Amino acid sequence: MSQLLKRLLLLGLAMNLCAAPAIADTTQELITKAPNGLALTPPMGWNSWNKFACNVNEQVVRDTSDAMVASGMRDAGYQYVVIDDCWQGPRDADGFITADPQRFPSGIKSLAEFVHSRGLKFGIYSDAGRLTCGGRPGSQGHEYQDALTYARWGIDYLKYDWCSTGDRNAREAYAVMADALRQSGRPIVFSMCEWGTAKPWLWARNVGNMWRTTGDIWDSFDKNDQAHSWAHPVTNIVDLNEPLWPYAGPGHWNDADMLEVGNGGMTPTEYRAHFSLWAMMASPLIAGNDIAHMDEATRSILTNREVIAVDQDPLGVQGHRAWKQADSEIWVKPLSGGASAVLLFNRGEGPTSIRATEAQLGRSGAAHATVRDLWKHKDRGRWTGAISVTVEPHGVAMFRIGA
Ligand code: GLA
Repeated sequence: MSQLLKRLLLLGLAMNLCAAPAIADTTQELITKAPNGLALTPPMGWNSWNKFACNVNEQVVRDTSDAMVASGMRDAGYQYVVIDDCWQGPRDADGFITADPQRFPSGIKSLAEFVHSRGLKFGIYSDAGRLTCGGRPGSQGHEYQDALTYARWGIDYLKYDWCSTGDRNAREAYAVMADALRQSGRPIVFSMCEWGTAKPWLWARNVGNMWRTTGDIWDSFDKNDQAHSWAHPVTNIVDLNEPLWPYAGPGHWNDADMLEVGNGGMTPTEYRAHFSLWAMMASPLIAGNDIAHMDEATRSILTNREVIAVDQDPLGVQGHRAWKQADSEIWVKPLSGGASAVLLFNRGEGPTSIRATEAQLGRSGAAHATVRDLWKHKDRGRWTGAISVTVEPHGVAMFRIGA
């Protein structure tokens, strides 16, 4: 290219830049930036909140990391160890965030090194407002400074909450932190925790890797938490999250909230249903129990690799409810290679027989397909055009039907 042509092009570019109306375009630019290329399957890990709330400390994080390795969870795919709220101390004189010196005396950087040394990744929590939900300092006004701090500490995942945000615009607030994380130079999964208030599934595809679609989970199958209207039992979350299936895909997932498996409020049957439904919905699988002290029943649910494979299927399509009659439901999730996962779900109080036919599943011509029971870990022979099972109350039966 001639020197003259180059100069003309540069001049044109400069004139365009000068003409740009600053504020609106800057926001728009942040919002439409390319995604970060992370979370091509739903993130898996552990988060401190459901079990420990504000009683988290560095020993809990170390014990959990060790237990994730010893229990086989890491090898089953759980990757991120995430400290939720209440790890923060005050900001220093320059505005940099510090760790709570009582709970995290060794500091976050050394804890991140510990977690990494166990072959795991490390996540942390902040909030788009002035204060977190637990009353610690939030990131509003400190977004770029905080993202830089996280990158320097070796953070791999940020959960970003929505308390104390006043009249902030969610779309803009999350775009600013997404940009700050990108500018930090470190790949950091961005987990948006805005509770679905501003419908992030409509606009956050290029902003976050996952977004909460509801208020907080409550450790119950179908009973509401009487004290908190924002807390939802499993069946409520399922009904709110299911219709959003078209909005999920590789790099951007509907987050049905952290798991309650093992926390004591549900039976093993209900926990199997909870875990299976999260896998069918391609939700992030973030365990929320005390991993270092869990029983075998809990461990075997969380490490069911056949169910995990449904969640983690690379096609990245969220499953949906294909049929419902009274308390019986049939769910389908398309899998890569033309296979599908099928869930028969009984919400009722007594056992019931559920029959799924080819028409209900939306598939045909698969007479040769293999049928695998993902909880019994048994092959059921070839597909015969329908599948019929008696499902226990609050329970599921889950199958993989081959191509
Ligand atoms: C909100 C979030 C929870 C948890 C708490 C922490 O309620 O939705 O998941 O992070 O804040 O205070």
